[in-house]
Amino acid sequence: MRKVLVTGGLGYIGSHTVVELQNAGFEVVIIDNLSNSSMEVLDGIIEITGKIPLFEKIDLRQKSEVIQFFEKHQDISGIIHFAASKAVGESVENPLLYYENNLSTLIYLLQACNNYTIENFIFSSSCTVYGEPDKLPIDESAPVKKATSPYGNTKQISEEILNDSCKVSNLKSIALRYFNPIGAHDSSKIGELPLGIPQNLVPFITQTAAGLRDQLSVFGDDYPTKDGSCIRDYIHVVDLAKAHVVALERLLKNRNSNQFETFNIGTGKGSSVLEVVNAFEKITQQKLNYKIVDRRVGDVISVYADTKKANEVLGWKAENSMEDSLLSSWNWEKKVRNIK
Ligand code: NAD
Ligand code: UD1
Repeated sequence: MRKVLVTGGLGYIGSHTVVELQNAGFEVVIIDNLSNSSMEVLDGIIEITGKIPLFEKIDLRQKSEVIQFFEKHQDISGIIHFAASKAVGESVENPLLYYENNLSTLIYLLQACNNYTIENFIFSSSCTVYGEPDKLPIDESAPVKKATSPYGNTKQISEEILNDSCKVSNLKSIALRYFNPIGAHDSSKIGELPLGIPQNLVPFITQTAAGLRDQLSVFGDDYPTKDGSCIRDYIHVVDLAKAHVVALERLLKNRNSNQFETFNIGTGKGSSVLEVVNAFEKITQQKLNYKIVDRRVGDVISVYADTKKANEVLGWKAENSMEDSLLSSWNWEKKVRNIK
């Protein structure tokens, strides 16, 4: 059986990807330091798939532990690297934490790829590398713009590290540039569990509907968009997870056209904040308490994916609508909060 290492495999996107990998017949080993996840996620994965992935609690910043891990598991055919810190605001306040956690972990893993002859590497990148796009929808040939946060900068630097490493070795790597992942597994056994006050739109909406937050703030209604609120491309986390399986297969079967490739992973459809709010109310029959407030500093106005390359070259397409995703997010929130 093909063995895959999934770092950050107990996190939000990682856990959904572990499920899809196991469903596709891969043997999975998870590394996670539980800094933003818990062991209960492993139970959810096992309940869904009926298969028990190997789990190693390791902090990937500890180089000696990373080496020990690869000494023990010498039959790994590919790595999907999710482990990272991801809060944009926190990265502005504590840049060194972000540069250390997001870059040293990547470097140690790539050194292991060299030393243990692992040639297939999938990386979690983000549409944040594009900044404010010059044209929409945005495709992979668009320029990478100067990052507005240390978090965004780590994604840009990581892509450069991967590209440079591919030039001097047999490493093959795909960076998947995620648009806005939302939603949860249909079973409601795994989903997104933000620590503290959610910074992202959809968890804030579901927590408001569940009564944990008084009111959703809509950050601005005076942008040059159809209804004045910002536009994003919301992608169901299960569709996103499936893109990793397809990307990994592409590398394992040597179907890649370059040693380093990038793909946009989105739906191709832009939705405004107010459209998301309205869709949530309609699909869940929940009235949402919200208020228009000032713009949030650093927000791009509008970004959504040109998915042609992912559709045609990768052979992957998002199947779920934004409404499907919102319903699964709400079902997950209800399950977590014991709401009938
Ligand atoms: P998450 O925080 O839910 O998952 C990350 C996991 O990695 C967590 O379980 C955490 O405990 C673990 N981790 C962090 N640092 C580690 C370390 N040093 N050693 C071992 N484990 C460590 O985040 P997510 O939303 O699942 O994001 C996964 C990846 O996708 C990240 O690289 C993130 O930057 C990227 N990404 C996320 C989004 C998004 O909106 N969620 C968008 C674009 C890109
Ligand atoms: C944020 C990150 C981005 C990261 C992405 C996915 C910032 C500036 N950017 O993007 O780097 O790749 O998450 O993790 O943080 N909104 C509200 N009210 C809220 C929350 C959000 O109106 O309470 C609006 C925002 O203004 C935005 C949209 O909802 O227009 C989506 O916001 P969010 O979920 O935070 O994602 P991004 O800003 O796209």
